Amino acid sequence: MNGVVMQLEIWTEKYRPKTLDEVIDQKHVVSRLKAWVKKGSFPHMLFAGPAGVGKTTIALCLARDMFGENWKHNFQETNASDERGINIVRGRIKDFARMKSMGTDFKIIFLDESDALTPEAQQALRRTMERFSNSCRFILSCNYSSRIIEPIQSRTSVFRFKRLSEESVREYALRIAKGEGLSVSDDALKAIFEISEGDLRKAANLLQSSSALGKVTKETIYEAAAQSKPEDIKHMIESALAGKFADARKKLFEMLITQGLSGEDVIKGIHREVFDLKLPEEKKIQLVEKIGEFEFRLNQGGSPEIQLEALLAQFMKQGK
Ligand SMILES: Nc1ncnc2c1ncn2[C@@H]1O[C@H](COP(=O)(O)OP(=O)(O)OP(=O)(O)O)[C@@H](O)[C@H]1O
Ligand SMILES: [Mg+2]
Repeated sequence: MNGVVMQLEIWTEKYRPKTLDEVIDQKHVVSRLKAWVKKGSFPHMLFAGPAGVGKTTIALCLARDMFGENWKHNFQETNASDERGINIVRGRIKDFARMKSMGTDFKIIFLDESDALTPEAQQALRRTMERFSNSCRFILSCNYSSRIIEPIQSRTSVFRFKRLSEESVREYALRIAKGEGLSVSDDALKAIFEISEGDLRKAANLLQSSSALGKVTKETIYEAAAQSKPEDIKHMIESALAGKFADARKKLFEMLITQGLSGEDVIKGIHREVFDLKLPEEKKIQLVEKIGEFEFRLNQGGSPEIQLEALLAQFMKQGK
């Protein structure tokens, strides 16, 4: 029973920081928020940035650090993307804004994906924010601040969140590894960074699904991500460029059949590697054009084996 429960635990939740002190990087945000926690007050805020970099996490940490054990009664999270129109603002959001806070001076409304709201809904939101600004602080989260109307942008403190650096992704992965008693190789850490591109939700999910395969190595990480390994792709295209077509083809089949990758996975991998090849710029450009053409054919239902072999033949031509 215990084993089953442990299996079902989701690491992104288990390792979500509980206080601002546990947040990795995003220092420009964390330091300002800590100062506001000390003061006991803060303005409405807009958190803008890519997925999995701590927007929701930091809002939750702020609520905990500010309100202590009362935080749950005074924090409401709503997702704007389920209902993008004005009704969500007039309904759920206003209802919560009207409620009295419990044991605190104000409460926090966290609105996820606020850039999904229509401009009319955003106007209504702006009015609600003003009307309840004594008793409520709004934290709006979005991917693109440009999709938020100007009157909201100018009435909020805007924080831009960055993707996490390689060092930070490592720190987070090692924190999980320690908690789970996992050994994670250095190669695997590098692979996690490369695939996650600084998105810590992706990093945690990769680690968790990879660990379900037994141990965490570069291979299990790429396998869990269903992505081609850069060195396999490199070996394949460099063989083709060098005129060793049989070698290139063997590598291709290994990826498609043994590793079970899709044609799209392989072509994406080729696209990632092509700029690093030691080739004149104009040849790279021709290859990029070909990659686009063959990707289109694959999407139209062309056979991956045939289309990718044909693409390798194009590489062979350019290598001459
Ligand atoms: N800066 C960070 N420090 C520590 N953990 C983080 C950080 N950012 C993200 N995480 C981890 O990644 C998970 C996802 O982060 P979070 O939910 O905060 O992302 P988000 O920025 O709100 O993304 P989305 O735009 O998809 O809502 C969290 O559960 C947490 O474990
Ligand atoms: Mg979020």
